Amino acid sequence: MKSNRRRLRPESEWGPTSPDKCRPKRLKHLVVILCALAFVAGCRQDMHNQPKYEPLEPSQLFADGSSARHPVEGTVPRGLVNADEALFTGKAGGTAVKEMPFAITAADLDRGQQRFNIYCTPCHDQSGNGNGMVVQRGYRKPPSFHIDRLKQADPGYMFDVISNGFGAMPDYKAQIDVRDRWRIVAYVKALQMAPGAGAPDATDSLPTPVGPPGAQPQPGAGSAKPAGAQPAGRGRGAGSGG
Ligand code: HEC
Repeated sequence: MKSNRRRLRPESEWGPTSPDKCRPKRLKHLVVILCALAFVAGCRQDMHNQPKYEPLEPSQLFADGSSARHPVEGTVPRGLVNADEALFTGKAGGTAVKEMPFAITAADLDRGQQRFNIYCTPCHDQSGNGNGMVVQRGYRKPPSFHIDRLKQADPGYMFDVISNGFGAMPDYKAQIDVRDRWRIVAYVKALQMAPGAGAPDATDSLPTPVGPPGAQPQPGAGSAKPAGAQPAGRGRGAGSGG
């Protein structure tokens, strides 16, 4: 192909190309144009105007004349089965349940430990003494999980604290799935039973920074959000001259 281009024909042979060489080319163009025309003509609105039903539109197909179908009897919307009071609130008849609402396996405990380490250790620390990193930076120090009152706390009570928060502690209902909250409770209970639990660890000797007066919320003051952390942080910024 390339050799054709490089070598010029002698001048005597110059002139219009022979018609038999030209015709197939024109024919090719014609075919392309015809195809394009056929393609454009084939464009219809069928895919655009789908025979679909608008909400509440009637239908002749169904005997009741309605296009909307009723869900099968007994259908429960996904994620809305919270008929189980103990599972979803940690309470039975208004009082905290003393038993886990489902059997806890080793895998549940593992999962509980993992979730605890993600969601609780920033404040409660890995051993549950309440010296998490956030506390070391000025957040209100939670009680140790190893005090008698919390050792005796019912699983349902802990579930409620995680779900709805407690005093300065925020709630974790939105972040942690129901069953994972129970797995965390199971893990905390296991942590409380562990030999040597509650012994002071290295972080216990660290001083807890104190914010300006009034920055610390009162113990168990309603369902206050983590207000304690911010004033303390601001106070520190102001104190350092900013
Ligand atoms: C942002 C810090 C923070 C996080 C994260 C946190 N807590 Fe707390 N928690 C607190 C504070 C602060 C208190 C004490 C609240 C008070 O007395 O005002 C507390 C108290 C508690 C109590 C004791 C309630 C009582 O009766 O005294 C339990 C149980 C508890 N938290 C469990 C958890 C669990 C489980 C998690 C993880 C899902 C968790 N917390 C995550 C800060 C936190």
